[in-house]
Amino acid sequence: MTHSGPTDPDPIRAVVVGAGHRGVLYASYALQAPAELIITAVVDPDPVRRDRLGRDHSLPPERRYASLTDLPPAGMIADVAIDATMDADHVPTAEWLLRAGYPVLLEKPIAGTSAAVLSLAETSRRTGQLLMICHVLRYSPFYVEVKERLLSGELGEIISIELSEYVSFDHLAAAYVRGRWANSTRSGSGILLSKSCHDVDLMAWLCDDRPARVASAGSRRLFTAERAPEGAGTRCVTDCRIEATCAYSARRQYLELGVWGTYAWEGLESLGPEPTPEQKLISLGTDNPYGRCVWHSDNDVLDRQTVSVEFNNGALGVFTLVGNSALGNRTIDIVGTLGELSGSLETGELRLRTINSSGDHQYDERMIKTDVAGLAHGGGDMKLVADFVRAVRGEPVSVSSTRIGNSIDGHLIVFAAERALAERRWVDLAEFDTAST
Ligand SMILES: NC(=O)c1ccc[n+]([C@@H]2O[C@H](COP(=O)([O-])OP(=O)(O)OC[C@H]3O[C@@H](n4cnc5c(N)ncnc54)[C@H](O)[C@@H]3O)[C@@H](O)[C@H]2O)c1
Repeated sequence: MTHSGPTDPDPIRAVVVGAGHRGVLYASYALQAPAELIITAVVDPDPVRRDRLGRDHSLPPERRYASLTDLPPAGMIADVAIDATMDADHVPTAEWLLRAGYPVLLEKPIAGTSAAVLSLAETSRRTGQLLMICHVLRYSPFYVEVKERLLSGELGEIISIELSEYVSFDHLAAAYVRGRWANSTRSGSGILLSKSCHDVDLMAWLCDDRPARVASAGSRRLFTAERAPEGAGTRCVTDCRIEATCAYSARRQYLELGVWGTYAWEGLESLGPEPTPEQKLISLGTDNPYGRCVWHSDNDVLDRQTVSVEFNNGALGVFTLVGNSALGNRTIDIVGTLGELSGSLETGELRLRTINSSGDHQYDERMIKTDVAGLAHGGGDMKLVADFVRAVRGEPVSVSSTRIGNSIDGHLIVFAAERALAERRWVDLAEFDTAST
């Protein structure tokens, strides 16, 4: 916890726009570091969520707004905004906030089209307001270590960079088969944008050059009606004959193991902070989307995808998204002209090898352990908010800084990959460089 002294600046006053899972998380920084950040208002059309955050931060009723249009301009009751609305609401809310004079910390994905991303960047430039994007993985000690190794020059110039994301079977089922990012029409995002914009952002940030062209392959194969096993029903707890042995059983995952509860029980929030097991079971058997059979949901997002990128400096990037792994994890392998670095976010370990052809060996090798144990996004979430506060104060920001200007290329790679996949061709990034594309 940070303590203020007599010469410390006042805490930054923030309005939280969107008091859902992420909004509550970022706002919790104010409880950890009250000398840096204080929540002074909340905006959310949902009264339960609005009041929950209002209570947590002792906000009087008149500071709990149902609509952005009721929020006064920046400087009156808040100086900055944390925009943690859902994907499709990012552009209208962030546009409104920037024009009302707020520096904005905006959740990813920035927007669902390249035109909207570039237009939001333009609004930030025109209004002169800071816009930072929640690419939280950049702040995890693991990726900070990778970035610093690259900046130190130990690896030389990057020749290739490979990143993988393994989305575990339970995570895939909850979020991308049953849940709110399962259907691209409903959420406004495919899985590459909603899940892996972090990873392609990491690739662009680590390569530190502009991407030139992109190719992609991928498909949705796993959770389709044709692959439903004999005995599968439409809902786990009503008409399924294999529920007791099914790895994806909603009863086992969300009730018995209690994983992914933030999503699975969000439809029950009006019943109070902790619905009973009976209430949960009834909801799984009736209208809860998380109670659906994974082979009979309305999912349309891919369960595997690769993205190949050629950067202007010749570096080659490959990202692989793998759905349904036993363990969720991210891995990285970078080869440079002087050495190579490989690691796994799950263990936090990196192996650094540098060419050294002297004496009786060919290379030097050492292990680097980063501290990621048990921390959400490898510990990046709170570090991101701290960096936002520093940026607003005009203090030096971290190497991870996610200002809009250096956060666009990852998104453009996503849009180029989706076009490349649909049109089965390499796509030139120049196709996306104007706000009319
Ligand atoms: N950075 C990350 O790693 C990460 C991780 C998970 C989710 N996300 C992203 O964070 C965002 C929020 O996700 P979440 O799970 O917290 O969603 P959520 O649905 O729990 O919260 C969004 C909230 O916004 C409110 N809202 C809707 N329209 C609004 C408006 N016009 N003004 C103010 N509030 C409004 C909703 O009522 C809801 O309470 C999403 O875009 C999601 O993709 C990012």
